[in-house]
Amino acid sequence: MTTEAPRQRATAEDSSAYGESLADVYDSLYPASGPAVDSMVAFLRELRPAPASLLELGVGTGRLAIPLARHGYRVHGVDASPAMLAKLHENDPTGEVTTSVGDFGALAVDERYDLVLTALNTFFMLPTQEQQINCLRGIHDALADGGAAVFETYNPQVYHRLTEATTRVGHLAPDALLLDTIQVNQSLQSVLVVHTIMDSGRLRKVPEVSRYAWPAEFDVMARLAGLRVTGRWADWDRSPVTDQAEKHIYVVERQSV
Ligand SMILES: C[S@@+](CC[C@H](N)C(=O)[O-])C[C@H]1O[C@@H](n2cnc3c(N)ncnc32)[C@H](O)[C@@H]1O
Repeated sequence: MTTEAPRQRATAEDSSAYGESLADVYDSLYPASGPAVDSMVAFLRELRPAPASLLELGVGTGRLAIPLARHGYRVHGVDASPAMLAKLHENDPTGEVTTSVGDFGALAVDERYDLVLTALNTFFMLPTQEQQINCLRGIHDALADGGAAVFETYNPQVYHRLTEATTRVGHLAPDALLLDTIQVNQSLQSVLVVHTIMDSGRLRKVPEVSRYAWPAEFDVMARLAGLRVTGRWADWDRSPVTDQAEKHIYVVERQSV
């Protein structure tokens, strides 16, 4: 079921481009079950148990939102891409997750949520520091009293240390291949990944830009938005952050909490 809440400002075309181009293959790239999804669910259940209300920013095809709803969370997802949301509703025929089309860089909510989740590097898809701070301000306003926001991002070190253009190959299906070229601009803290998909003789290119924030910068941006980081880990299993960690998990709460 698609609802109007939370209220959003007009969706920028840029923010929908990734989802519009990848919706048909997204579920092959990121399967909706397995240990990664289970450990994310366990993490959230420990943090704020169901039936908490949960807003997922950049909900995509529902890879996380649908399992969370099945574990008793009341889940609303926002995404800029109608094609990703159409897939989500195909994957969720009983309508356990409600959705709205919108840009989470300009989030304006009518409701308050116990949890706000931004997973799989999606926060870094906002391409400027200003948009990232605006997003955090929107999250501040979206949190219920005692609520918590959770972010899963890549560890900036993983890309920052790539001083030369790099290529990565992935398997999509028996006759489909994913080829990523990765280029990092260290000064701008930005990563350009061009996903080239070769599928049944068809070839398409999908550029993805992300802007990484270092942990200390993330802390400051959160503070500017009236939030504070109350937890930081290297994975959903709460392992400690190291330079080698592939990802960062942040828990953020309102400063007044
Ligand atoms: C990497 S996917 C993650 C999807 C899902 N959260 C998951 O973990 O599988 C990022 C999603 O964020 C959406 N997205 C990117 N920028 C956005 C923006 N500014 N506003 C709303 N959605 C956005 C994309 O359309 C895409 O569905």
